[in-house]
Amino acid sequence: MSDPIALWHAEHVNFASLLDILEKQLDLFHRGKPPDYGMMLDIMFYMTHYPDVLHHPKEESAFARLKEREPRSGTILDRLTGQHARLKQCGDALVIALDDIVNGSITRREHVEAPGRAYIAEFRSHMETEETQILPLAQKLLRDEDWESIEAAIRDVDDPLFSDTGGERYAALRRQIARESRTAKASPR
Ligand SMILES: [Fe+2]
Ligand SMILES: [Fe+2]
Repeated sequence: MSDPIALWHAEHVNFASLLDILEKQLDLFHRGKPPDYGMMLDIMFYMTHYPDVLHHPKEESAFARLKEREPRSGTILDRLTGQHARLKQCGDALVIALDDIVNGSITRREHVEAPGRAYIAEFRSHMETEETQILPLAQKLLRDEDWESIEAAIRDVDDPLFSDTGGERYAALRRQIARESRTAKASPR
């Protein structure tokens, strides 16, 4: 079995790269330049069809086990679970707003920026807490048999963007991610 903690972390790295791309688009908008609303919609569509559908439910299954083993972690795990619900709600609202813009109906474009930035900030701080506090706890407390039960309890969904089996739906976004990663390599911060 591949290392579940490494996979967990790798998904966070993927999500962080998408939040960076989304933020750059909002920055363009902020400077009065036209962002790529289609790409923003692709990102938010993915966020509501992979992290919300697989990553977060799987975490919540892991959280339940962690809570049993380490009851003192309950407060923070409950807070993270609440954030999953809020991120889903905000993500769904952004998909609707962006979809309306892309399809030319009347959503005011200004309405995308503040919710977009709030979504990015909350998702980032959520992952930061998981990375610094929960993954190390899971590393310490969860065994192979825990992970087998967690996997078995979750509907198996291939990552439609980052896995090898990803389809055409995200072809343009995949090209953008490749471009961003080449730029990052060429000019390391
Ligand atoms: Fe989470
Ligand atoms: Fe996570």
